[in-house]
Amino acid sequence: MLLIDGKKVAADLRQRVKNDVDALVRQHGRAPHLAVILVGEDPASQVYVRYKEKACEEVGIVSRIWRLDGGITQCALEKLLTELSHSDDIDGILLQLPLPRGLDASRCLALVDPKKDVDGFHPENVGRLSIGLPCLKPCTPYGVIKLLEYYGLSPAGKRAVVVGRSNIVGKPMAMLLAAASPFGNATVTICHSRTPDLAAVCREADFIVPAIGKPRLITRDMVKPGAVIVDVGMNRLADGKLCGDVDYEALTDVVSAMTPVPGGVGPMTIATLMSNTIEAYRWRREAPACPVA
Ligand code: GUN
Repeated sequence: MLLIDGKKVAADLRQRVKNDVDALVRQHGRAPHLAVILVGEDPASQVYVRYKEKACEEVGIVSRIWRLDGGITQCALEKLLTELSHSDDIDGILLQLPLPRGLDASRCLALVDPKKDVDGFHPENVGRLSIGLPCLKPCTPYGVIKLLEYYGLSPAGKRAVVVGRSNIVGKPMAMLLAAASPFGNATVTICHSRTPDLAAVCREADFIVPAIGKPRLITRDMVKPGAVIVDVGMNRLADGKLCGDVDYEALTDVVSAMTPVPGGVGPMTIATLMSNTIEAYRWRREAPACPVA
């Protein structure tokens, strides 16, 4: 089995981003600026934001973190997002999800300037992705494509099954795998909690991307020999250990390639956020009339 080493590929990508940042500083006299907004006390979100801050520091992107009280009003949060969208000083905006109860994420995301939308969650970028126009793409699924690319694991002409239909991972993942682009062109099925016979659908798959948040959901009997698995699941077990959506140990002699958890997709999400920030910076500075504008 080929171990898909997200830690290594992400480190590689961060190094390339660092070189790009250095070149942009020489060319334009200033590093890209990323605004990160964290609302409330969600422990997982606090950890993710710390990782993002650390990655920015490593590659030379200037991060500004807003740590806001969970009791902030919708109106105040919208005001901040509008200001950041209009600020010439900010190149990328990331609103960490989920928001505390009572705040409407959709309304907030729609206020982010699509050219600064490093998460690819604005309806304009979602629409562009779905019709094959240039856009900023969601970091986790785009990171999965970058992993496949690195190892030359092309899904073209193959059957891919995405388990999960979230706006953050499942839906954009399916779009990217089906896209008429390098490391796309797969025949894609989206499964979810209401899929009657998940095992039968998965057994048909050459590529499986579980992203549903159920520890060890994908078992040995559900996987075709030689399949490729990229596990997006990240679950905390009772003993404190992390595990993915795949029964990893039981599958190492069945699959042809698989990501570990941790050390698979997670580091790629953060590294892709770094490269998306560079892309947003370039689009605004070098090609303001580009289709993303
Ligand atoms: N929460 C879980 N994943 C993500 C992500 O990729 N971006 C944001 N903004 N929030 C998240």
